[in-house]
Amino acid sequence: MDKFHSPVLLKESVEHLITDKDGAYFDGTFGFGGHSRRFLEQLSQSALLIGTDLDQIVFNQSLENFSQDSRVRLYNFNFTKIGVAARLESVEGFTGIFADLGVSSYQLDNEEEGFSYRMTAPLDLRMNKAEGIAAHEIVNNAEAHDLAKIFREFGEEIQSGYIASLIVKQRKIKPFKTTTDLAKLIEDVTPQRFLVKRLSRVFQALRIAVNKELDSLKEFLEESVPLLKPGGRIVVLTYHSLEDRIVKDFFKEEEKGCVCPPNFPVCNCDKEQTLKIITKKPISPSIAEIHENRRARSGKLRAAERI
Ligand SMILES: C[S@@+](CC[C@H](N)C(=O)[O-])C[C@H]1O[C@@H](n2cnc3c(N)ncnc32)[C@H](O)[C@@H]1O
Repeated sequence: MDKFHSPVLLKESVEHLITDKDGAYFDGTFGFGGHSRRFLEQLSQSALLIGTDLDQIVFNQSLENFSQDSRVRLYNFNFTKIGVAARLESVEGFTGIFADLGVSSYQLDNEEEGFSYRMTAPLDLRMNKAEGIAAHEIVNNAEAHDLAKIFREFGEEIQSGYIASLIVKQRKIKPFKTTTDLAKLIEDVTPQRFLVKRLSRVFQALRIAVNKELDSLKEFLEESVPLLKPGGRIVVLTYHSLEDRIVKDFFKEEEKGCVCPPNFPVCNCDKEQTLKIITKKPISPSIAEIHENRRARSGKLRAAERI
């Protein structure tokens, strides 16, 4: 199964994350362990690597694949629960915290997962089908302006209002049940040359909304900092401009010390610097990597170190 996903910026992720071969590491988006496998190659037998993944199919497969490596502990929950994972494994502080956001090529290409507009599946789009609400509930019930907002903000779709109004009209006749129901509606009103991009934008936007991906990212970053040991690193790989902005702004904010106005005689904000940014500019994949793996093209890696 893991052959279907090539880890992005693999060498760069290892170089930025690993600072102590005996340390405790957290991979919040374990997937099939494409990145973690390489981290483990660099780590000693006394190291620990905790992985989380929301997707049950992916999690179960990885649990089996890594069952022989006693350094690996896996949990089928959201990476926002990094603190819970640390407590369960008696970890006081991590040497490295890693996340490679979004979904994998395997999830996009596998019919059973139902993430792709190219294959007919229930219109669900949840990574963990046992939590939250499915995409069809949003598509069939949300107000037109809320749907438009999702397509505009998370998908940067310029025809967001038009698509939302078509959805509202169509669902009165027949509610949306499958990925194909939605793909067909978009297909009917989109010129062929724009079709793939528009379908990708609409489905990606819905997936981000359904999984509350941006809120989870913010929570994960906030939870992570106090769990990093001094000198420990946090490395995040994003594929969407909004995600990248969240990481960039968060790192910048954590790099700031006192934010009192300069004319204050003493500090009363109590704000302390917690991170030092390692990547002044985000690292992007090389042309060669993009050539080999198209999914890498929008990848951006940012890293910061705990003070
Ligand atoms: C891009 S893939 C990671 C691939 C992995 N780095 C590899 O190379 O094999 C992202 C994975 O993270 C999972 N995921 C996404 N958001 C998550 C979250 N908030 N908490 C836990 N897992 C998440 C997805 O189910 C998916 O398996």
